[in-house]
Parts: sequence; C-alpha cells; structure tokens
Amino acid sequence: MADSPSRILVANGPNLNLLGTREPGLYGAATLADVETLCAETGQRLGLEIDFMQSNHEGALVDAIQAARGTAQGIVINPAAYTHTSVAIADALRATELPVVEVHISNVHAREEFRKHSYVSPVATAVIAGAGLNGYRFAIEHLASVLEG
Ligand code: DQA
Repeated sequence: MADSPSRILVANGPNLNLLGTREPGLYGAATLADVETLCAETGQRLGLEIDFMQSNHEGALVDAIQAARGTAQGIVINPAAYTHTSVAIADALRATELPVVEVHISNVHAREEFRKHSYVSPVATAVIAGAGLNGYRFAIEHLASVLEG
C-alpha cells in the first residue's frame, strides 16, 4: 500500500484575517484566502496535504498545534503578534516535536524593537521574514525537503 501523503498545518495568528485591508503598505493587497490558495497549490505540487487555519485567539492556536501532534508531519506558523508575547504557543510547538517554520510577511527586524524578539524562533527549524506571501511557499518547500530527509 502506498504511504499516505504528509500533512502540514499552516496556522495564522491574530489580525491575519484582515490581510488585504490591514496596513497594505506593509502586508500587501492579497487576502488570507489568497494565502490559503497559495499554500494549497504549493502542497498539491509537492504532494503534501495542507490544513490551513487562522485564529485571533491564543488558546485556539494552542489547540490546533496540539492537534497537529497526531495528524501532521510539519507546521508552518505565522503567529502574528503572539510571536512576541506567547510562551504558550512556543511551548505547544515544542511539545509537537515536529519541524516548524516561522513565517512573517513583513521584515520584523526592520520594524519596531519589540518585533525583533520571537518566542517561537528558538523552536523553529527555519524562520522566513520579509518575503511577503512567498514566505509561505518557501516554508512549505522547506518542510517538503526536510520530510524527504
Ligand atoms: C507579522 C509581524 C508581526 O509583528 C505582526 O504582529 C503581525 C504580522 C507578519 O506577518 O509580518 O501581525 O507576523
């Protein structure tokens, strides 16, 4: 029997539901639905199943990450503002023992001081910031190569 395809959780944090209308000078004109399409197309090309979610709530993100322990082989996460505040999300990611790629649409290092610290980065296999929406594509491609071994 053929192996079932690897599954990647793509999780998005608070305010990313507003993509397209929120500070378009920083985050661009594309919407979260465009990000989902990009991730689905990338997954299809690489033979990966994509579970895509967004929440404005820290606990919902923790629940989704915990659920990925049993269902996914890797995680792409844009934790948005929780990047800079959430020990709970970092702990949940660590507990999965899965490869994690942290994505930021903007270059957080070229912005305010508080955006330069990430609780998630020490848990991440790779961090992509400032590549716009392409960051999600690069993240999925990276996980595909990690999972191939
Ligand atoms: C962000 C950067 C964060 O600092 C910010 O709070 C966001 C989006 C990004 O994708 O560039 O909401 O994660």
